[in-house]
Amino acid sequence: MRRTRVLVALGAVVALAVLGGATPAGATSTSFRPPADSLRALAAPYGLRIGTAIIPFDLDTPAYAQIAGDQFSTVTPGNEMKWQIVEPTQGTYDWSGGDRLVAFAQQHDQLVRGHTLLWHNQLPNWLTNGVANGTINNDQLKALLHKHVTDEVTHFKGKIWQWDVANEFFANSWDPHPLADGINGDDFWVQHLGEGIIADAFRWAHQADPNALLFYNDFNIGGEDGTNAKADAVYHWAQQMRAQGVPIDGIGNQGHLDTQYGYPNQLQQDLKRYAGLGLKVAITEADVRTFVNNATDQQPTDNLALFAQPYEFSKMLVACLAVRSCISFTAWGFGDADSWIPGFFTGEGYATIYDVHLNPKPVYTDLHDALALAKGAPQRPGTRD
Ligand code: XIL
Repeated sequence: MRRTRVLVALGAVVALAVLGGATPAGATSTSFRPPADSLRALAAPYGLRIGTAIIPFDLDTPAYAQIAGDQFSTVTPGNEMKWQIVEPTQGTYDWSGGDRLVAFAQQHDQLVRGHTLLWHNQLPNWLTNGVANGTINNDQLKALLHKHVTDEVTHFKGKIWQWDVANEFFANSWDPHPLADGINGDDFWVQHLGEGIIADAFRWAHQADPNALLFYNDFNIGGEDGTNAKADAVYHWAQQMRAQGVPIDGIGNQGHLDTQYGYPNQLQQDLKRYAGLGLKVAITEADVRTFVNNATDQQPTDNLALFAQPYEFSKMLVACLAVRSCISFTAWGFGDADSWIPGFFTGEGYATIYDVHLNPKPVYTDLHDALALAKGAPQRPGTRD
């Protein structure tokens, strides 16, 4: 009897150790068990979460919901937590899409990335029109943003693992007015409220949910554009934020690649450099696009792209695996039919893991094999350590 009790107690200690300590924000234990050869199960031994963006109302399609639950251990709403969607009319919130995704995640033992609180795109018309016609002045704009961040983070409090607090503030080589520190001087928020608004948003989000991990998220910050200038700028800004005690926990590299530009060999080093500041890192919106015959079938027009697309995608995953602080690798949707690419990049597509009929593509096998073969990859710390 006594012996059994000791064994049970020991078992509990071992189980706790395996789970890596504290339960992360948003985690619920369910009886859901993913297939043993799924992407999420193969990544679990390294403590790495594999994710996807989700269109919550597509979860009504059984084949879609099945893949979403089986293959991924973290999910991000593609649009449904953006300001335009959550407050279409001033003062009237619509959390339905976000709530639906959170419920799905809880049923499937997944963590949620919240995306995104402060961005120049997908703002509600009432806000941008009000600013343009002068009925919303800068003080009011700041108060509205404070309320937006506080209300949204509070609504989802305890249910979000990582928040993309601020998105796409740094200038690209093609932007005309970068500030001395690399922030885009033409950004809507920077123009009206100054660049200190980014740190304010992190402080407000932290006040509303002190347990959520707070990320800065951007594209081409791993050398993807052939120079490392944007990465350098984000690195120095993050270093300053840390020095000033701003509550920032991580840097998200979106990871939108295009086969015509080749693989960014700088990426792994850049991820490691952010991690050197004591930050977590994540690949938050991975996809690899290429030119296709048409937006419906999305067949690559160049045979070499059939090799380049899976190669670049899995190499990006390997870069994340190699960096211990890289805690999640999220694909921006998992089916070509749902991808944002054909609508935003003329003539391109074939960017995701499954084809337009939700059949796994060669990239699925390459990601699967990269995870299965990564035996020496470092074990990530617990989801919140
Ligand atoms: C995209 C969505 O996928 C589209 O459905 C929407 O029309 C536009 O936004 N970087 C980001 C994401 O941070 O929020 C964007 O998502 C893709 C680029």
